[in-house]
Amino acid sequence: MDSPRFTRRAPMSERINLLAPEVRANPYPLYARLRQHAPVSQVDPGGIWAVSRYEDVMYVLKHPQLFSSEGFRQAYRPAWISNYPLADSALVMDPPRHTRLRGLINRAFGTSVLTRIEPRVREIAATIAANLPEGQEVDFVEAFSVPMPMGVLGELLGLAPEVHPLLVRWAQHLAQFTSIGPADTARQEAMRATVNEARGHFERVLAERRRHPGDDLMSDLVQARMDGESLSDTELLGFMFLLLIGGLETTLHLMSHVALRLHLQPELMTLLREQPALVPRFIEEALRHEPPAQGVMRLTSEETELGGVRLPRGVRMLLLMGSATRDEAYCADPDRFDPHRTAPQNLPFGHGIHFCLGSQLARLEARLSLEALLARFTRLSAGTQPIQWNSSLIVRGPTRLPLVAHVD
Ligand code: HEM
Repeated sequence: MDSPRFTRRAPMSERINLLAPEVRANPYPLYARLRQHAPVSQVDPGGIWAVSRYEDVMYVLKHPQLFSSEGFRQAYRPAWISNYPLADSALVMDPPRHTRLRGLINRAFGTSVLTRIEPRVREIAATIAANLPEGQEVDFVEAFSVPMPMGVLGELLGLAPEVHPLLVRWAQHLAQFTSIGPADTARQEAMRATVNEARGHFERVLAERRRHPGDDLMSDLVQARMDGESLSDTELLGFMFLLLIGGLETTLHLMSHVALRLHLQPELMTLLREQPALVPRFIEEALRHEPPAQGVMRLTSEETELGGVRLPRGVRMLLLMGSATRDEAYCADPDRFDPHRTAPQNLPFGHGIHFCLGSQLARLEARLSLEALLARFTRLSAGTQPIQWNSSLIVRGPTRLPLVAHVD
């Protein structure tokens, strides 16, 4: 007989494809069905196990010994490339390797990062608002969402301003890394070129900071010491690639979700202009309602059970963050966008040992750009072109967001 934790649930009749265009356009009704009928279940693409309930997502994040990140390391070390630094980053490590690396990174990536970068963030926010045309249709992804995280990341990585636009191209291309098959030689060649190009720029920064350390993040990382140990070159490069993968697309999608919400509910734009103190809460609610990091991956390191379902060793798990934050167990009336909501917070940035290092930075970027937008414009209306959504299991956001900004 089943134990209480092994209760049977009515299966969903069809196998779900999370990348179906209608799901990408609005995944939330499907997430609700999954939570109700199949909270831990295999979906397409690839038969990955989707976890949709808040409680189960938290269980996985709190048990890295059962649900591994390191299991994905091999995916970044296929036979066709030997020097992709993301394979040596904290994102694909479990304790004790993760503990040591994260300890060293934490030495450098602390509050000083925010203090140093804030003037630059203000500068970019002012430029974004000044460059947005009034009464004219623009793609908000390009005009509003991209410039901030691109400029911030370029600065953090110590790159010259003319190199910053390359970050977007690199990040977009690198996001396709794990979809390249063993026989896909043309795509392998293109990916090696991108990795080498980014590596070349990053290596030059590291060499320069070793020769002439300054008052910046990269110099701090090069010099970070813990128990007599420092970061190796491989680990430093791994961290630079991780910042690129983790800090760019996520933040730009947050900015797009913020703009889209102001367009969908114009009364919110009026409210925020009247009560700017609500801006931080509005951003928290945007993060909860549309988490930019929509999926977090893990691999079972032994046979285990979750939500009453037995899972073999070595299966891929996809934690549906966008579902967990819409679970009644996470907050009341979860589908409603409520700018006055106070708690809970943080789950959109993960939980436990891999909790996002850039959460405060992302919040700062979103706050200052939103404040600059509110200071100049009164409302956002739809453009003539349709909104286009990206197709990814990991991050969610529009690839095109045509809007018109007004001052009336
Ligand atoms: C809205 C923006 C962002 C969101 C929603 C977000 C979300 C997340 C999530 C969910 C994780 C956990 C991944 C896991 O458990 O496997 C994570 C990890 C991480 N994030 Fe972010 N992130 C954002 C912005 C940033 C920024 C701006 C940076 C840095 C510039 C950053 C750096 C990192 C790093 C380094 C990790 C890995 C930490 C580790 O593995 O120990 N993130 N992020």
